[in-house]
This record gives sequence, C-alpha cells and structure tokens, in this order.
Amino acid sequence: MWGGRFASGPNAIMEAINASIGFDKRMAPQDIAGSIAHSAMLAKQGIITDSDAAEIKKGLLTVLSEIESGTFEFSAALEDIHMNVESRLKEIVGEPAGRVHTGRSRNDQVATDFKLWTRDQYDATIQGLTALMGVLVDQADAGADMVMPGFTHLQVAQPVTWGHHMLAYVEMLARDRSRFIDARARMNESPLGAAALAGTGFPIDRDMTAHELGFDRPAANSLDAVSDRDFALEFLSCASICATHLSRFAEELVIWSSAQFKFVTISDQFSTGSSIMPQKKNPDAAELIRSKVGRITGSLMALLTIMKGLPLTYSKDMQEDKEQVFDAADNLILSLAVMTGMIADMKPNAPELEAAAATGFSTATDLADWLVRALNMPFRDAHHVTGALVAMAEGKGCDLPDLSLADMQTVHSEITDDVFNFLGVKNSVASRLSYGGTAPENVRAQVARWKEALA
Ligand code: ARG
Repeated sequence: MWGGRFASGPNAIMEAINASIGFDKRMAPQDIAGSIAHSAMLAKQGIITDSDAAEIKKGLLTVLSEIESGTFEFSAALEDIHMNVESRLKEIVGEPAGRVHTGRSRNDQVATDFKLWTRDQYDATIQGLTALMGVLVDQADAGADMVMPGFTHLQVAQPVTWGHHMLAYVEMLARDRSRFIDARARMNESPLGAAALAGTGFPIDRDMTAHELGFDRPAANSLDAVSDRDFALEFLSCASICATHLSRFAEELVIWSSAQFKFVTISDQFSTGSSIMPQKKNPDAAELIRSKVGRITGSLMALLTIMKGLPLTYSKDMQEDKEQVFDAADNLILSLAVMTGMIADMKPNAPELEAAAATGFSTATDLADWLVRALNMPFRDAHHVTGALVAMAEGKGCDLPDLSLADMQTVHSEITDDVFNFLGVKNSVASRLSYGGTAPENVRAQVARWKEALA
C-alpha cells in the first residue's frame, strides 16, 4: 500500500510491533461503513464515477460478508484493518478499489472507525446502566418498608430502609449514565475528510459523510480531527467512575452474602462452589465485578499516558489506544449485565436485616432527638444524656429499648414512657421524612419518580 519509496520490506520483528490487525479487525464493520459513505460522497461530488462507487460498495459488502462468515484471511503484512479491507477489495473489484482512498488518509479513517466503534459502546453502556437501574428500582419497590442497618465506618449507625439503600445506587448509576450521554453528544463529530492532517484539495462534502455515518457534524479543524482521542479518554473516565460504583456495590454484596451477615441470598445462578469444600457457595460474580475496576481504570491511566506529550497531529503511539478501550468496554458492559442479573434475583433476608438494624444502639439518635423535642433540651445536652443511657445499656448487656423507665430516669428524671415509641427501628425509619431521608413514604415517592423516568 505504501511500498513505492521502499527498497526492502519490513523486518519480521518490525511487522510484529507495527501490525494492529490482531485487534483492530474488530472495527471492520465501521471501516467498511466509512468507506462506503466516503466513496458515495466522492461520486456525488464527481470525484469518482458513479459506476466506480457502485463497484466499490458491492465489493465492500462482499468483504464484510467474508469477514462475518469467518472466511476472510487477515494478514499481518497488511498491517491494519484499513489495508486488509482495501487489499481484498482490490482483489474483488480491481481498479476502482484504488480510488476509494482519494481525499482521505488512514489518519482520518482510523479516527472515524474508532469513533464509530466507541460510539456503539457508549450506547451499549447507557442501555446496560438503564437496565441495572430498572432492577434496582424493582428491589427498592419491593423493599420500601424493609428495615436494615445503615452504616458509617462499617459500624451500625442508624436504621435505614432497604429501598433507600437500593435507590442510593440508582442515583450513582444515573450520574454515570448522564456522564456517558453527555460525552457521547460531545464526541459525535466526524473526522472523515480531515485526510492526513491538513484537509484535501478535492471538492469533498464532509457534511454528507458526517450525516451518512450518524455524526452531528464534521469536526471543524483537520489537525484536531486526526489527533483527537478525547472520545476514548472520556469513555474510559466515565467507565472508571462507573466501575468504581459497581465495585463498591459488589463489595457490599460480598459482605452481605456472608454467613456472618446473611443480609441477602445471591441466587445459585450467580454463585459458584468450591472444588474441595462441598458446603461452599461463593459470590464469585460480585468479586469479579469488584475487581474489574482495576483493568478499567488501568486503561484510563494507560491511554492518558499514551496521549500525554504527543505533538500534533497523528503519531503511531495512537495505535495503542484501541486495546484499552476494547478491553474496558467489554468488561464494563459485561459487569453491568452480570450485576443486573444478580440483582434481579437477589433475595434480601428481611428478618436478619431487621434484627441487625436494631443492634449497635442504632436508635440512639432517635432517643437524643426525642429529648430535644419532648424536653426542649439543646441537642448537645441530649447527646450527652443519650451517651450515658447507651453506656448503661452496654453495662447491662441489653439494647436501648430494653432499659426500664426507672433506669432511664436515674440518668434524667424527666424522661417519660413516650420515649419507647421512638426506640424501635420501624418508628425510626418512618420518622425520617426529610427530603432525601430514608422513610418508606419517601422511598415510594422516589420509586414512582424513577419508574416514570426509566419508562
Ligand atoms: N493502524 C493505525 C492506527 O491504528 C492506522 C493509522 C495509520 N496511519 C499512519 N499514518 N501510519 O492508528
């Protein structure tokens, strides 16, 4: 393809480092779509004949079907997907194949192909996030009243509702989704026709190819168009944050499904056994999702480092971009699908959750709030009195609601029976009606809002 000024072919080891066909063959459908759009535009502009464009299109569709059926023979000597496709096109249609590269270069071609490929990953990720949000909202709906412990420092803090906990992840994933949607809108400009770096003297119509390939517009600066990889970096940074969220949730599932917690049962479909311990049921799916953030954030670090310090415009360094995005996209989309399946048939264990919610003096804040409301105590004083009551309960080895009124009155004489209405976990969550609070009533309102938003 470029041998005209060369006296010898590449060293075999040079071919090993130079060829990208081993991975960029994944972009064959995008490469062929780009070439069909480009040659149709060349014909419309009178740069090539209509019959050449028709031959090229027919030939490219044959190449695509060969690739799809697995009969296509990829060659490392032809470096990359662009030259593999063009070379096969030459074998099929002959001379017109040599005209398809008029007014473009592999630099705008690879940017176009990779953008089209990555754009599909944006779409698949947005879909995957929507599906996961849907099953979380269903869990929240079913468990709007279910009480569980809320934690800070992984120490029981205050009772919350299961539904509220599920909806916390819906909020996180909604931010992820909006980041992907936002970045997708920004990336949707066509590099095609920027040619090698400076544009072309041929009277091409970049609006036409942009429109044909589903881009909103052609990229306005040819130098930027061939050297921009922000669309990949943004995908990886959105993916890293999303994978971080999935990893946090996965960690909770690993903890919750343990025999010590028994908060949830993960279905057999998303668990594995041990080859030596017959009793074991391990949360491998959750553990793997927890770990995927490593390679996904690793991809972001890799591509940031590859791009750092590259002068305008294209440098071969940029060939190293694809595997990072391929790997991150594959693993993020897989993680979303697995998480969706696992959450859809995960069973929260209501009695265990409620019992755990009552441990650790979790309604101590409710007691302090009661002192403020009923006795008009400043909160700081109420905090102190409650601390003394917690110490008393701890000394007696019981929970706060198990203290007698007489015991309580030794700490503060004005405490009345009414306090016992506020020490139960159900009362505690029901009272937290402040906007964004955990009360079942709030959860039901948020579930309704999300159902509408996701419909
Ligand atoms: N395989 C190359 C890549 O992935 C395609 C572009 C090559 N362009 C060039 N001027 N060598 O980046």
